[in-house]
Amino acid sequence: MTRRTTKASRRTVLARLGAAAAASFLPAHFAIGQQAKIKLGLMLPYTGTYAALGKNIDEALRLAIAEAGGRLGGREIEYVVLDDESEPAKGAENANKLVTRDKVDFLIGTVHSGVAMAMVKVATDNDTMLVIPNAGVGAATGAACAPNIFRTSFSNWQPGFAMGKVAAARGQKRALAVSWDYAAGHESIDGFKEGFASGGGKVENELLLPFPQVEFQAILTQIAAIKPEVVYTFFAGGGAVKFVKDYAAAGLKGTVPLVGAGFLTDGTLQAQGEAAQGLETTLHYADGLDLPKDKSFRAAFKKAAGRDADVYAVQGYDTGQLLAAGLAAVKGDTGARQPLIAAMEKVEIDSPRGKFTLSKAHNPVQDFYLRRVEGPENKFVSVAVKALADPARGCKMA
Ligand code: PHB
Repeated sequence: MTRRTTKASRRTVLARLGAAAAASFLPAHFAIGQQAKIKLGLMLPYTGTYAALGKNIDEALRLAIAEAGGRLGGREIEYVVLDDESEPAKGAENANKLVTRDKVDFLIGTVHSGVAMAMVKVATDNDTMLVIPNAGVGAATGAACAPNIFRTSFSNWQPGFAMGKVAAARGQKRALAVSWDYAAGHESIDGFKEGFASGGGKVENELLLPFPQVEFQAILTQIAAIKPEVVYTFFAGGGAVKFVKDYAAAGLKGTVPLVGAGFLTDGTLQAQGEAAQGLETTLHYADGLDLPKDKSFRAAFKKAAGRDADVYAVQGYDTGQLLAAGLAAVKGDTGARQPLIAAMEKVEIDSPRGKFTLSKAHNPVQDFYLRRVEGPENKFVSVAVKALADPARGCKMA
């Protein structure tokens, strides 16, 4: 009698808790029936000026996992998707939803540096694994670096520094910088300044407007009046499309050279058309790299998504590759945190951009390419800086 009651009440408790809750206090291997799925919380912009960037990251991440047989470390995957709208004010609440309500095993995101910093804080406070597939905010792999935080993209400093080096090598001295007034813009310009200073160049004017505004007329009028030797920009997504078109329409193209971090012309060329022709930028990706991995990736992405790959797709794909390598090493046991992190740290990613490794601060050490827009492509011109590592200022792990 007593035994039966005990058994029945245990069953009742389990039933009340539900399989998902039960699974959360049982190790992954012993979850009821079969192994529990690994939950990936995708926090990306699916609306707004960065929507196309978020979509490409999402679809290429899924492609990498599909190529790995739809499993990571032998376990099936469940995706929990959240539109962060590139809205920093909602960043903490959104990230907390994924961690606390949905209990994701990995936070994956995002594009916008301000939102990414909110994710870094939530990941740090909850000791949740975070992989950043775009946002370049320096602190993520700098002052706020942590063992559980990884980035598969770049730091904002990196492409800026590379472009600064290129401008310096051309003997240019007087630059003007234009961007949005937030972390990515500031840090990208700081990187450019540092590279440019190596040749004695100076950024004499900085013109900033609030993100995601695209009313560029006042800025273009000032550029025409100041006539710098070169204009450096950080813009991306929908804003980049409009800036490049407005720059040409204002008659500045061909008068004042326009360069930038490669986001200016990546994933945007179709919409920019003639206005983008001939623009030179630096980035960790280019068209025409002549790498077998790039060719197979581009064909597979085109087949899966129905459109051409760009740098954001590459970063999403490599996020999938990093997860696959880490989870294979621990056979899907997300609880084996130390070996998981150790495996992720030592991986060499065979990326469509070219092979890369991660620095001690968990940011890619990678080549930066000079590219020139020719027709529908950001054509590879040369390697601007080889194996460039972010300085990781303030990171105690580096
Ligand atoms: C960023 O906010 O860090 C950011 C956004 C879009 C890009 C690159 C960086 O294309």
